[in-house]
Amino acid sequence: MEHSILEEILERSKQELVAIGAEAQIWKASWYGYPAIIKVRRRKKYLHPQLLDEINVKRMRRETKILVTLAKTGVCVPTLYAAFFSKWALVMKAIEGQPLSQCLKDRCSQENIKLAGRYLGLIHNVGVIHGDYTVNNMIVTNRGDTCIIDFGLSEFSTDPEDRAMDLYLFLKSINSILPPEIAEDYFGIFLKAYSSVFNEWYAVKERLEEIMLRGRYVEERRLSTRVSDR
Ligand SMILES: Nc1ncnc2c1ncn2[C@@H]1O[C@H](COP(=O)(O)OP(=O)(O)O)[C@@H](O)[C@H]1O
Ligand SMILES: [Mg+2]
Repeated sequence: MEHSILEEILERSKQELVAIGAEAQIWKASWYGYPAIIKVRRRKKYLHPQLLDEINVKRMRRETKILVTLAKTGVCVPTLYAAFFSKWALVMKAIEGQPLSQCLKDRCSQENIKLAGRYLGLIHNVGVIHGDYTVNNMIVTNRGDTCIIDFGLSEFSTDPEDRAMDLYLFLKSINSILPPEIAEDYFGIFLKAYSSVFNEWYAVKERLEEIMLRGRYVEERRLSTRVSDR
């Protein structure tokens, strides 16, 4: 039963592969007339099939639970349409727009950065961490919203270290795209929006500063090794 509905939708969809990630393949589809994507977790040859099934189903359960939790928070996330556990497939709303990473290269509005910060604060407030909070996992819609996708690595956690790691990954992702002084400005805007909605900002701030120091230390070590290699 589960099987046939999914097969039918996949067949009816244009069979258009959107992306092949480390964990899943993303297909474009139509869910009862609504633009959708189907995220199918990939097989891994090196894992025993039964173990892989257990891992995939566990991760899918967590992803569905998180998407449903976030749907009530006002954060723009894809609406979950269906879960086919035996096929390792999730069907969700297709968010139409441009990745924030691309939009930043074209100098998009600071409002999008503000939204990314505000939404992360709201995500953390309900005890969820994203796990891969980078500008590649955000889509700027035509209406100017910044929707958050890719909850495959998300977890329920209230640990300040995990929360600070979401902030740090965001910083690293903008640093890899923007000139340092603009990235710094944007991170300031992001943090202001985050801390204005997130209730336990001070604990996270402390951890973030520690992680940034550690990051700087590692980076300096890497650079000095490169220099001394010459
Ligand atoms: N709900 C969605 N709406 C529109 N595009 C999506 C959606 N989910 C994923 N995508 C597209 O598929 C790509 C890969 O999906 P993602 O969930 O980020 O998996 P991963 O990064 O692990 O490969 C995204 O960068 C995006 O282009
Ligand atoms: Mg992604």
